[in-house]
Amino acid sequence: MSENTASVIPTLTLNNGVAIPQLGFGTFQIPPEGAQRAVEEALGLGYRLIDTAAAYFNEQGVGRGIAASGLDRDQVFVTTKLANYDHGYNQALSAFDRSREALGLDVLDLYLIHWPLPARGDYVETWKALEKLLEDGKVRAIGVSNFLPEHLTTLKREADVVPAVNQIEVHPSFSQPETQKASRDLGIAVEAYSPLGRGADLRSAAVVQIAERLGVAPAQVVLRWHLQEGRIAIPKSTHAERIAANLRVSGFELTREDLAAIDALHAPAGRLGGDPATFAWSQRPGEVRS
Ligand code: A2P
Repeated sequence: MSENTASVIPTLTLNNGVAIPQLGFGTFQIPPEGAQRAVEEALGLGYRLIDTAAAYFNEQGVGRGIAASGLDRDQVFVTTKLANYDHGYNQALSAFDRSREALGLDVLDLYLIHWPLPARGDYVETWKALEKLLEDGKVRAIGVSNFLPEHLTTLKREADVVPAVNQIEVHPSFSQPETQKASRDLGIAVEAYSPLGRGADLRSAAVVQIAERLGVAPAQVVLRWHLQEGRIAIPKSTHAERIAANLRVSGFELTREDLAAIDALHAPAGRLGGDPATFAWSQRPGEVRS
């Protein structure tokens, strides 16, 4: 991979003027002891957006990887997320400081509420803490994750700052058009997690056909679909050659028909992760659950 790969990753401008790379390296399920190396390698390959979360329990390793990369701080966009067990105004403020310390960074680029936990009814109060962090200059942009249209509408009505990002599950077999539209209509950028459908969507006949026609890999087609539709995507792989290949998404174009064919794969039952309406997993570090 050439040294100037980073320069070919397109960027989006968020609703507060901050630029974010459209492709990033996701660290979900990377164990703490492997995180430093994985992040250092991803940055070496050209990734410039690193996505973690307090609930991944790997922030310290991620931070070490960023430090070890030798890149200037402003060359790397770092996202982390507030864990479910830290909802609430004061708790969110302290949780942010713990994340910042674990990552070893003064200012974070993007801080997200990981899940809305609607049954707790405190995501607006929690959001106010993120607004305070933004106002204090501790983070460059704030956003949400797994927010459904009704949660976004509530925030719009009751909060001052519109989220910059909504990070949600989006892949060909579950692209959530309504939640994407609700986000966009409010000026909120959509960031796709499980962007490849955890690998399963790479075997979809429509995707394979387009890949064969263009002479690229199915993963490159799916990532190109995300990019051309204006999303940020954070694919994961445990294989170095795939991590590198997933950055090679320029030099070919999907047609309008290609985009529509992939959009048509959406199935309402295609969700792979938790349903934000009910998801409330809240395991603390070191806590063991049966
Ligand atoms: P692996 O880790 O064996 O490379 P998602 O990002 O949607 O969660 O998808 C991750 C899954 O997709 C993993 O199972 C990963 O497998 C697989 N994957 C990631 N990139 C590629 C690729 N370029 N080609 C094939 N499979 C890929």
